[in-house]
Amino acid sequence: MAQPAYEIDMMISAKAIAARIESLARDIEAEFAGTDKLVLVGLLRGSFVFIADLVRELTLPVEIDFLEASSYGDGTESSREVRILKDLRGKIGGRDVLLVEDIVDTGHTLSHVIRLLKTRAPGKLRTIALLDKPSRREVDVRADWTGFEIPDEFVVGYGIDYAQRNRNLPYIGKVRFV
Ligand code: IMP
Ligand code: MG
Repeated sequence: MAQPAYEIDMMISAKAIAARIESLARDIEAEFAGTDKLVLVGLLRGSFVFIADLVRELTLPVEIDFLEASSYGDGTESSREVRILKDLRGKIGGRDVLLVEDIVDTGHTLSHVIRLLKTRAPGKLRTIALLDKPSRREVDVRADWTGFEIPDEFVVGYGIDYAQRNRNLPYIGKVRFV
């Protein structure tokens, strides 16, 4: 079926995102000061732009790995399950890990992935999400750092898609159906 027509209104500019990431990078450097074993784990696909910009702001030695998780409904949104579609390439036992997510919405994905990573006995495990929609939460979880809290709007850009489109927008925009 064709997508309904929509327009995109700018919500967070590229400049505002860049400034926020600079400040988040300083917090992360303070939290992981002295480590030589930090692994940034990006959740595919939405975090790919965020992790690319974040990693270039970090002056710590870091490695990068990726995980792809997919959530699907069984009819009732609150009992959603999360599947791992692509696992990490590397081992994280004893390593410090920063999990990088695009948006925390209901919280199912973040909470599931945190649980999964913990079974592998990492060192310090911290989480960062570019965006957070706290009003949508179904699971009591939050990232250690959040770029921006946003209202219950469907957003795209800066890695985030609507039906796989608009990931290439340099800013975060709000989808408005017309
Ligand atoms: P959660 O498990 O409900 O927290 O789902 C989080 C995932 O849903 C995010 O990583 C996104 O992939 C997707 N998502 C949530 N809100 C939006 C949105 O506004 N636009 C695009 N994707 C979204
Ligand atoms: Mg995602």
